[in-house]
Amino acid sequence: MRSAKLPAIEGGAPIREEYLPYGKHWISPEEVESVCEVLRGDWLTTGPEVGLLEGELADYLGARWVRAVNSGTAALICAVGGLGLGEGDEVITSPLSFAASTNCVLFHGAKPVFADISLENGYCLDPESVAGAVTKRTRAILVVHYGGFVADMVAIGEIAEENGLLVIEDTAHALGAVQEGRMAGTFGDAGCLSFHPVKHIAAGEGGAVVSSSEELARFTELYRNQGLSTTTYQRQVERKIHHYDVIMLGYNFRISDIHARLAREQLKRQPGFVARRRELAQSYDEAFADHEGIIPPPPASEHGGSYHLYPVRIIPERWRIERDHLLQALRTEGIGATLHYPPIHLLQYHRQLLGYKSGDFPNAEAAAATLLTIPLFPRMSDEDRDDVISALEKLWEYYKR
Ligand SMILES: Cc1ncc(COP(=O)(O)O)c(C=O)c1O
Repeated sequence: MRSAKLPAIEGGAPIREEYLPYGKHWISPEEVESVCEVLRGDWLTTGPEVGLLEGELADYLGARWVRAVNSGTAALICAVGGLGLGEGDEVITSPLSFAASTNCVLFHGAKPVFADISLENGYCLDPESVAGAVTKRTRAILVVHYGGFVADMVAIGEIAEENGLLVIEDTAHALGAVQEGRMAGTFGDAGCLSFHPVKHIAAGEGGAVVSSSEELARFTELYRNQGLSTTTYQRQVERKIHHYDVIMLGYNFRISDIHARLAREQLKRQPGFVARRRELAQSYDEAFADHEGIIPPPPASEHGGSYHLYPVRIIPERWRIERDHLLQALRTEGIGATLHYPPIHLLQYHRQLLGYKSGDFPNAEAAAATLLTIPLFPRMSDEDRDDVISALEKLWEYYKR
């Protein structure tokens, strides 16, 4: 009989009592104080913090233009609209992502067309599959830097150039990731960031459009503020202008000064955050190298990924249990493993609308069925990390075939 320790889900003692989430923000007391300063000030929104954040992000990324908005989703919607994509246009994108990276295309009446992912380059779009999906209606490729791994931007750039396509980078997961000496988000015609609390920079909510196009930056300024020709700040503080016109249709996608200040404070700590994420990833890489039951992602030493996620792939035939049971078993051990993502082409809404079926994207479906995200965030201690490794090992010993 087995001498392995009894998993908590089978009635054994859990590895830890305090639940370790897969991702978590880290706000310092100084940052709380800094945000309070904004709360005590005159401008809670449309004030000076937003422009300051945009300048600092542009410096960090080496980008010409950054325009901040109130979510990553809003950033994607601004990018697709601002680049002129709409009815009759096809946009090639990844099925292994959060629905926002597909929905932004749908919101403008354009058609998302999925290509398969590669299982070898961090689960990002496979350039060969992208090339095969190009039709005469294709106008853009919207890459998703899954988990903080950067898609092959050289190959994607070549396909885009050959076919006269725009490139949008969903960089929600990949702030601080680098390829060929360039920051993710600065390769394409637009890069879109998210400041959701599990992301690199936690502002509560927030996002930004990164671009080398002044036109896209101006579009985003108008689109985020109901198409108004002037802002409240210009009218009240600069006092140059006292009227406005509406010059295009827009939304309220404005980020508040409260969120912008928090994002600015977090940005100061971003290099440290990324370094700690890479350090934790390297420990996982070492722990899971040559593992018989799981495949770790590409090793930290081999790419410039910034590790929003650390996804491991289960080798199903080596386990006596299904992936979802392993997920639940980890959670019962106190380890907040989770899934990224159910493939978008098989979600009820998207399947019905776009007509995809199981089997259309074998790699994305295989990844979705076998990936498991384990906790990784800068505030995690070495002990937390060791608990994750111990829990996975404990379950492997008990459930291996
Ligand atoms: C890949 C991806 N794109 C876009 C978004 C949207 O970002 P937000 O939640 O800030 O709207 C997310 C959010 O989780 C995401 O994971």
